[in-house]
Amino acid sequence: MSYLVNSVGHVQLNVIDVDALVRESTTILGLHVTREAAGCVWLSSNGRSAELVLHEASENAIRSLGFEAVSEAAVAEAAARVEDAGCRLAATEPTLDVCTKGMSFVTPQGHTFELHSPVATEIYGNRKAVTGMVPLRMDHVNITSPEPAETRSQMEQIMGMRLSERMVDDGLSWMRGANRLHHILGIVRGETGLHHYSWEVAEFSDYCRLGDLLDTVEKNFIWGPGRHRPGDNTFAYYIDTCGAMVECAGNMAIVNDDDRYEPNVITALKRPDNVRVMNVWGEPAPLPWREHHFPWAAPAA
Ligand SMILES: [Fe+2]
Repeated sequence: MSYLVNSVGHVQLNVIDVDALVRESTTILGLHVTREAAGCVWLSSNGRSAELVLHEASENAIRSLGFEAVSEAAVAEAAARVEDAGCRLAATEPTLDVCTKGMSFVTPQGHTFELHSPVATEIYGNRKAVTGMVPLRMDHVNITSPEPAETRSQMEQIMGMRLSERMVDDGLSWMRGANRLHHILGIVRGETGLHHYSWEVAEFSDYCRLGDLLDTVEKNFIWGPGRHRPGDNTFAYYIDTCGAMVECAGNMAIVNDDDRYEPNVITALKRPDNVRVMNVWGEPAPLPWREHHFPWAAPAA
């Protein structure tokens, strides 16, 4: 087995004001609610049962990041690798009852990751009568880690992810899974947390729609629209009601020639040389984007 992970599966957030984030995620971003239980709301942009799971809590924080495995057998294979990679196996069942298999582990840096079999999906259930922009799918997540090279090594050893691109100082790196998108996970050097969660958009005009919708609630993009060099995807970012950064992104570069692909190493780290590395169209990354931090909840004992 090479890749054990195919794609991002779902993101779970602890949220103080769940109602506010549900309202924004449905009326502005265009997700729909798929399940509501006591203190817990599931949201999706398409026919999947869950892409974003919100838990009512006393803090705003990411609770766990779920990846979708290539098979049920891959979940067991990854679980068997957790301790050799220096991490702690925290659960051997999926957190969502719409997955048949799942396991969670905690890293020494304090990230809680899950690998689960595919989330139940209604493949012809993509379109809903909602008023927001409506992305296509959750596409990747960028996390922050104080030890990015160690985090990358854990992802390689446990999940079978592969490195697609990195900055020479490991300030940012991008890893791919079996779906061959340039990245399903980005790792940013910083205190343990979430940097952004990202939704794929269908059309460039979706950014116009989203920007206008954000205006109706007195909000705006913090960066973009632009086009990243790493991944070659278009982008625009805003901060959601709980303080997490949301990216909407156009379709990403595909690494088809997987075995011959050599990870790109970015050596231009300082302005002005690195401006077009991060945004081909030229607008530099603003300080709120570069310094954004959203905490990771303390792992379950
Ligand atoms: Fe991103």
